[in-house]
Amino acid sequence: MSRKPIIAANWKMHKGPAEAVEFIEEFDNLIGDSSPVDIVLAPAFVSLSASKQALVNSELVQLASQNCHFEQQGAFTGEISIGMLQEIGVDYVIIGHSERRCIFGEDDGLINQKAKALHAADVKPIICIGETLDERDNDQVESVLRRQLTEGLMELDSDKMLDSVIAYEPVWAIGTGRTASPEQAQEAHRFTREVIGEIFGEDVSSKIRIQYGGSVKPENTEELMSQADVDGALVGGAGLDPVSFSEICKNTKV
Ligand code: PGA
Repeated sequence: MSRKPIIAANWKMHKGPAEAVEFIEEFDNLIGDSSPVDIVLAPAFVSLSASKQALVNSELVQLASQNCHFEQQGAFTGEISIGMLQEIGVDYVIIGHSERRCIFGEDDGLINQKAKALHAADVKPIICIGETLDERDNDQVESVLRRQLTEGLMELDSDKMLDSVIAYEPVWAIGTGRTASPEQAQEAHRFTREVIGEIFGEDVSSKIRIQYGGSVKPENTEELMSQADVDGALVGGAGLDPVSFSEICKNTKV
């Protein structure tokens, strides 16, 4: 089964509109007119519009937001609806990032509500899962991933899962410089695909793309991306620099 890799840069709370546009102009020159991988940028909410405008002539780069609310509108101070994101032209929404889970207390139930709302609106979720260091040290990797997948993906439509993306991001590897070994990544991805197969069946499990995230850099991309069940990367730190992000895209062999 050949799955097209998807490489996404999650800019987190970096880059206002001006810096976002500067990145896109430089990245455009570096990446050229075609790429064998899907490329996604996830700017902060306030930089989405400017980024979309800067990407107006790009058929190569798609846009993601880093979060959304599951309700369509209402009294939710500080929140952003999926409709608002669609108005800007967002293609993907990252949900369940470990920083949302750990710092902002988001749980699997809330992530499930967001996933359902995104599917209903035909916007593709990038659903993040991953264990903490404590959980890995206590042999809980599989039980944590199974719980996050079972509860986070509860009652989702199989057809819509085909366009959804899962990002396996071990929390201990995010922003730490400590990357999972290619074998650790492959094992977690293989297990994730197996659980998705149990929930949604063979068609979805063989086609859904599973990204790895956690200290991905140009130097470790090729080895990580060559693992059988690794279909791309969700990149934090190294995605802030157009040169290193373009190298990560180029080092992903199809
Ligand atoms: P990192 O972040 O690449 O800086 O480790 C990854 C992420 O949080 O998605």
